[in-house]
Amino acid sequence: MTNLLTLGVLASGRGSNFQSIIDSIESGFLKARVAVLISDNPWAYAIERAKRHNIEALILRPRDFTDKDSYYSHIAQELEKRGVELVILAGFMRVVGRPLIERYTNRIMNIHPALLPSFPGLHGQKQAADYGVKISGCTVHFVDEGVDTGPIIIQAAVPTYDDDTEEALSKRILKQEHRVFPYAIKLYSEGRLRVEGRKVIIEGKRKDSVIINPPLEK
Ligand code: GRF
Repeated sequence: MTNLLTLGVLASGRGSNFQSIIDSIESGFLKARVAVLISDNPWAYAIERAKRHNIEALILRPRDFTDKDSYYSHIAQELEKRGVELVILAGFMRVVGRPLIERYTNRIMNIHPALLPSFPGLHGQKQAADYGVKISGCTVHFVDEGVDTGPIIIQAAVPTYDDDTEEALSKRILKQEHRVFPYAIKLYSEGRLRVEGRKVIIEGKRKDSVIINPPLEK
């Protein structure tokens, strides 16, 4: 029997990335299991997705805790209790606190909808469209204490167009998010990611960590 990597997913919203991870597990692409979904938002659609796939869902709201540290200590405890090995931020709209980062150093992955280090923070797609870059994309990275500053694991690029709206660009990027996030988790599950300072070395056959995509139809 193969060993399954135990994941804990944190999400605040619609959870389409969470769904792409579930789908990758169910198709056999990813040898993992999701032990728990934690949401800071009781109305997150991600919770519905968890229920449909028999995944335990916990709602933990920061306002029910005395401060940020106690919130993230509690989250870390819940994850550890369930044997979570890798934490996935799938649209978790908060800057993660130190207690969780300390207990899961280089074991928390986030996806950001821009090519970091450009356009960190909120609305990466809008920032890129407004700036007028010709290529944008998404980035999977390990999480440190900064805002989207941790070591980069893999990126996928998409073209931008002069008449792009935020929605159109977001859609094009999201399609790539759903490819690269499960792929990054797969690399981790195979023990192929080595962090050296701020670089992530991918061991084995794959030498590049960028997926350049052919132009997609608008
Ligand atoms: C995605 O654009 C992701 O890059 C960002 O938040 C959004 C989450 O979307 N971190 P979803 O909830 O996974 O559909």
